[in-house]
Amino acid sequence: MREVWVDLGLDRSYKVIIAAGILEETGRLLERSIGKRKVMIISNPLVFSLYGERVIHALQSAGMKVHTALIPDGEEYKNLRQVNRMLDEAVTAGLERSSLILALGGGVVGDLAGFTASIYQRGIRCIQVPTTLLSQVDSSVGGKTAVNHPRGKNMIGTFHQPSLVIIDTMTLTTLAEDEYRGGLGEVVKYGVIYDRALFQLLEEKALMLKEREQAAVQEIVYRCVKIKSEIVAEDERESGLRMVLNLGHTFGHSLEKLGNYKSIKHGEAVAIGTLIASLLSREMDLLDDCSVKRITALFKELGMAMSFPDYNAEDIYEGMLNDKKVQDEILRIVLPRGIGGYEIIDNPGRDLLLNIIENAAEL
Ligand code: NAD
Ligand code: GLY
Repeated sequence: MREVWVDLGLDRSYKVIIAAGILEETGRLLERSIGKRKVMIISNPLVFSLYGERVIHALQSAGMKVHTALIPDGEEYKNLRQVNRMLDEAVTAGLERSSLILALGGGVVGDLAGFTASIYQRGIRCIQVPTTLLSQVDSSVGGKTAVNHPRGKNMIGTFHQPSLVIIDTMTLTTLAEDEYRGGLGEVVKYGVIYDRALFQLLEEKALMLKEREQAAVQEIVYRCVKIKSEIVAEDERESGLRMVLNLGHTFGHSLEKLGNYKSIKHGEAVAIGTLIASLLSREMDLLDDCSVKRITALFKELGMAMSFPDYNAEDIYEGMLNDKKVQDEILRIVLPRGIGGYEIIDNPGRDLLLNIIENAAEL
């Protein structure tokens, strides 16, 4: 078992526990760090059918009262209507200020459950039990919660740190191949932008990771959570350093939007976005050609197809300008500076960006 401490001062610090097969320990871990409480599990039918009974049994064995509420599976259900349903469930279950909401699922469940917890009775505790690679290495840690508005992703949300994160890497064995690969895209992001040694480790263990060998998966999840916790501890509200986690996202979001959030997965879009960012870095002499090749090779070795979608470069560029991260008309882009470092640049220029996007399509 490995542990990471997210250091946010007296009130809001918490532990992330990572191990294979610890779902069974949920009740004991929760009781030890928070106490015996009433718990409402929020999950979706797919994840609940796989892991729900195990978690309920663990909680009940530790003497906790458990209520379960499910949202339908899918990003399209990450909305206020489902939040309302969850609030109704919380009232029906008689959740009190001291009760807990436990998110069992991927980033969709985690974001929605975290948001619900943050507004129910002005905020109750939330426990994250992430079950996708993306949610284990990224979304369950750091306290960003959100639901979508019909006109934009993650438009409605809060910062609400969890009180505990329990990561059972064994849950990844049932994850669909494309979802797992998507998570690997986020893993590579940490190496490229923040940790050269992690990038090297990923190169060494690419095959094992692709095959989901537990020892390798656990090691990598731990390394990523550690990086995320450092970044969040330094910049909880994303006024500076936390922006580096957006590597590849400004390009990626535009690709996702052009595909109506259906034809290209988030992780794949981020991977292609990371590649575009790397090409831009090379153009600006922040990254050498050999490093660009290493990044592309790693993505490929991890099983990413890296096939560039057939969208018009102008449309991709327009989509980037409409990203919610564009503020005061400044298009801010995170770029790798060598492998393991970063540079944030403003308004790189339309012609340069179009040129890079067109070249990336030919790779
Ligand atoms: P997801 O939650 O939709 O899960 C992907 C699919 O995998 C779903 O069908 C789900 O039911 C299924 N699934 C989950 N765990 C499984 C398991 N163990 N076995 C089999 N199937 C399983 O997608 P995601 O990639 O986990 O999360 C994406 C969401 O996360 C987006 O809404 C994004 O905005 C959000 N996000 C949030 C943050 C943050 O900091 N809060 C960061 C990154 C992404
Ligand atoms: N995934 C981006 C963040 O947590 O800031």
